[in-house]
Amino acid sequence: MSLPRKIGFIGTGAITDAMVRGLLAEPVAVPQVMVSLRNAETSARLAGDFPPVLVSGDNQAIVDGCDTVVLAIRPQIAEEVVRPLRFRDGQKVVSVVAATGRDALLDWIGADVRLTQAIPLPFVAGRKGVTAVFPPDPDTAALFNVLGNAVECETKAEYDLLAAASALMATYFGIMHRTTEWLAGKGLPEEKGRAYLAPLFAGLSETALSAWRDTDFIEFSREFATKGGLNEQVFKDFEENGGSRALTDALDRVLERITG
Ligand SMILES: NC(=O)c1ccc[n+]([C@@H]2O[C@H](COP(=O)([O-])OP(=O)(O)OC[C@H]3O[C@@H](n4cnc5c(N)ncnc54)[C@H](OP(=O)(O)O)[C@@H]3O)[C@@H](O)[C@H]2O)c1
Repeated sequence: MSLPRKIGFIGTGAITDAMVRGLLAEPVAVPQVMVSLRNAETSARLAGDFPPVLVSGDNQAIVDGCDTVVLAIRPQIAEEVVRPLRFRDGQKVVSVVAATGRDALLDWIGADVRLTQAIPLPFVAGRKGVTAVFPPDPDTAALFNVLGNAVECETKAEYDLLAAASALMATYFGIMHRTTEWLAGKGLPEEKGRAYLAPLFAGLSETALSAWRDTDFIEFSREFATKGGLNEQVFKDFEENGGSRALTDALDRVLERITG
């Protein structure tokens, strides 16, 4: 297990920005980082903030100059960006490109590389990101353990399921937003609603984080619901009025999209 000596990023967008900031926070985890010029603003900001960052307008120079290459472009352009590049046999390649299968990636790469796929989340910037990795690979796990923690998936099915679960982020904030809107509609100033809900959800998340090894989430749900009380009533209504079904249907549909 070892961390890269020189890691290169093809595509310098939101997720590369987050990963580089996480890797180069103190104590610095990798000695050198290369990023592609595009996006120009993001790459210039990274180079300005971190001396180990080199910017290159030539993607091939990044592949040639780095032991580990992260593919971080959008799926729509991935083939046209990756196909012309020449990789070395045995080179480590980590693809964070969404909805793009291993077979397609290996075909475009065209060399016998050590390919892993990963789903980093924006929290990697603060080294608090949980990252699904497939297939298990000690070096890729080490990389993402620096950035929070890696969850290594034994099968593609497991990896796809975690990809589906990662699609809940917008819904989490959506629930907070709809509640804030509802409160505002009943007369509570929006800012007060946000000031109340943010710590409420943070407290719940911290509870889950501290005890998930030993406790099912439904046990927390019961713990926070007094018999015959208000919490019990809301969850019962949520279940009976289709809330849970809407959630599992949405997960089914996103899984279908992920697995093609
Ligand atoms: N954001 C997330 O939280 C997240 C999480 C996990 C996975 N992902 C996946 O990671 C990939 C990147 O996502 P993102 O959110 O970082 O997207 P993004 O912000 O759009 O970044 C992609 C970057 O690729 C650059 N690019 C375009 N053509 C290029 C080329 N020929 N060579 C090098 N760079 C090129 C773009 O530069 P220009 O701006 O100049 O066009 C853009 O800055 C996607 O596949 C996404 O699904 C994202």
